[in-house]
Amino acid sequence: MRITNLKLQNYRNINDLDYQPGPGLNIITGQNGQGKTNLLESIFVLAAGYSFRAGNYQNLLAYDKNSFSVKIDYSWQERQFTSQLDYKSGKAKFFINNKNASHRSEDTLKVVLFTPDDLYIVKGTPAKRRSFVDFVLCQISPDYRYDLDNYSKTLKKRNLLLKQEQTNSRTFGIINQIFIENAVSVIIKRINFINLLAEIVNNIYKEIDTMSAEIKIKYAVSFPIDSAKISLDILYQALEQSINNNRKQEKLRRTSLSGPHIDDINIYHNDKLARFFSSQGQQRTIALSMKLAEMYTFKKIKGFYPIFLLDEVLSELDNEKQRKLLEQLEKEDFQSFLTSVYIKPLTGNTVIIENGCLRRD
Ligand SMILES: Nc1ncnc2c1ncn2[C@@H]1O[C@H](COP(=O)(O)OP(=O)(O)OP(=O)(O)O)[C@@H](O)[C@H]1O
Ligand SMILES: [Mg+2]
Repeated sequence: MRITNLKLQNYRNINDLDYQPGPGLNIITGQNGQGKTNLLESIFVLAAGYSFRAGNYQNLLAYDKNSFSVKIDYSWQERQFTSQLDYKSGKAKFFINNKNASHRSEDTLKVVLFTPDDLYIVKGTPAKRRSFVDFVLCQISPDYRYDLDNYSKTLKKRNLLLKQEQTNSRTFGIINQIFIENAVSVIIKRINFINLLAEIVNNIYKEIDTMSAEIKIKYAVSFPIDSAKISLDILYQALEQSINNNRKQEKLRRTSLSGPHIDDINIYHNDKLARFFSSQGQQRTIALSMKLAEMYTFKKIKGFYPIFLLDEVLSELDNEKQRKLLEQLEKEDFQSFLTSVYIKPLTGNTVIIENGCLRRD
């Protein structure tokens, strides 16, 4: 996918912007508070339907205005798309090629985003790691999104019955079975994705960090499995067994104690858990490598690259790593947008943003 044009109106501090990025690496530079992240955010919002920063559409509206719009032209597999988000008087409308559309549409712009907060993929809670996988898998596979939605709904129902102490009811038996089926569909897809990602991530890490280190990533299921092999059947039996063993605990705690909502992803740096043992800089480089690996894994599964958005990634890296990353992004086949407060050293297609307005130097 490749963005050819971006138009913004009344989007946060950007009143009116018309931007034609290049096909490869695009750098958006400027002082603090000028609109770099806002510009990147607008691309993410058009793709995902929500912002990666807290808040709703109302927060994206320029102060004192009552409507904003984000319009992006992009090409994808030799087809041209125009996608537009209009927000007016509290109501949002989303169009692809002038037709009402959903952000879940296959034709929606696809993105991978890296922000300074992504350090928490490595050092944060398991929820952060699960949402890292879920976000990309939902973009890659409508089936996964469907399974995940079903799982969330069934989990809610199951937890409600546990709260109401109705575990002996017939309904609970039925819900429990659907819960296990939905759970294993989600888990197997996550495991397959993580296995693909794990193959790639180690090599990327070595490209950015010259210190030799092995990065291993493993999906950590929240219940014991008595087998080295994983299949739907094996997962099904293991989860069923775990639920039976935990029956008393679940009744006591009134909540579901195993399933993909508890699972984690273990990241090892030289065979030690990165969240406990790696330095802050190493954790950042691992997080960045995982995002880059996400780009390649996406391509491997879907046959095309999404757009890569990187917010303030340079300020977190030492000079050598900055240089290597920029070099790599320059020669990649995908389009990337990178924001940076630094003017130098800059390569790629660079624009400067000042008070919400773009200029090229
Ligand atoms: N809804 C809004 N309307 C108008 N201005 C806003 C709105 N929301 C945020 N801003 C302002 O937009 C400006 C630019 O914010 P942005 O986060 O894009 O800055 P930045 O260039 O990324 O800066 P930094 O280098 O500090 O990350 C800020 O001054 C911010 O206060
Ligand atoms: Mg910023």
